[in-house]
Amino acid sequence: MNIKEAIDLYKCASTKELSKIANDIVKKNYSDDVFIRGLIEFSNYCDMDCLYCGIRKSNGKAVRYRLTDEEVIDTVKFGLDANIKTFVLQSGEDYKYNVEKLSKLVYKIKKITGAETAITLSCGLMNRDDYKELKDSGCDRYLMRFETSDENLYSYLKKGQSLKTRLKGLENLKNLGFEVGSGFMVGLPGETIETGINNALLCKELELDMIGIGPFIPHDETPLKKEAPGSLDTILRTTALLRILLPYSNIPATTATGSIDALGREKALSCGANVLMPNITPAKYKKNYLIYPGKICLDESGSECISRLSERVVSVGKKISYERGDSISYTIMKQ
Ligand code: 5AD
Repeated sequence: MNIKEAIDLYKCASTKELSKIANDIVKKNYSDDVFIRGLIEFSNYCDMDCLYCGIRKSNGKAVRYRLTDEEVIDTVKFGLDANIKTFVLQSGEDYKYNVEKLSKLVYKIKKITGAETAITLSCGLMNRDDYKELKDSGCDRYLMRFETSDENLYSYLKKGQSLKTRLKGLENLKNLGFEVGSGFMVGLPGETIETGINNALLCKELELDMIGIGPFIPHDETPLKKEAPGSLDTILRTTALLRILLPYSNIPATTATGSIDALGREKALSCGANVLMPNITPAKYKKNYLIYPGKICLDESGSECISRLSERVVSVGKKISYERGDSISYTIMKQ
């Protein structure tokens, strides 16, 4: 299907029809496998002040924490015991966790996990040299959402920053050989159907290996507290469109989607998604990584989180794959 056909379908087909087409593509490319990634939210300090985000710098009510290297490593060891082969280390843009500290941490983790395991970082925008240092230290993948393809909306939400700079960052990551993930929020204030379509087209243009999307959920301690959240239906339709446009990319069923609907992640897995990210952050910290309210799994330990996800996956006729799950797009590109 070409791009125009995919957009026409997105505009005209029912969610059920879109879901069937997207799920057929997933089955053809991934069989029933759902890849899992162990998510470790290692710091919620953030020097940014994005209008939508609960851990924005000016939220004085956020209880801040930083895991020590030892705590991160212990969490990784727990994940290895649970058979996880991909770890996603996420933080706010915490300048105390500078590139030197981060690369040392990545190096230490990689020494323990070995080459079979993939390390993903999601720590925001840095310059090319810093990304290179992270790559050289053993980091395999990098996630950084562009949040919205609308330049004006982007600058408004990120207090004058430019989308172009963010996209340059993604280009640098790609050129350095990272497996690159990005994505956007669905239902941001001021967004139209066209914004959603342009978001998906930008993912296609960037040839992303991983695409994470989730509904915007208003947080009480942000300037957007009175805005409406994104809808599950738009999430599902957009997930299907992404799958049609990017058949070989990894698309997670995100926690935010599971937070607006108890079965949100299962529905996304039936609509084009093929990845789940159990949150294995130590329970005493994870309740403070509140980028939006109503986040699920906050009371669960890492092992509870993983075992509940297995049940969810089985409920939609799929199974967890413990492979490291490089994206097919990345594997083809490297050949
Ligand atoms: N609602 C939903 N998602 C959010 N994020 C940040 N704040 C919110 C919110 N209020 C998402 C952004 C960010 C990711 C880590 O979390 O897309 O990139």
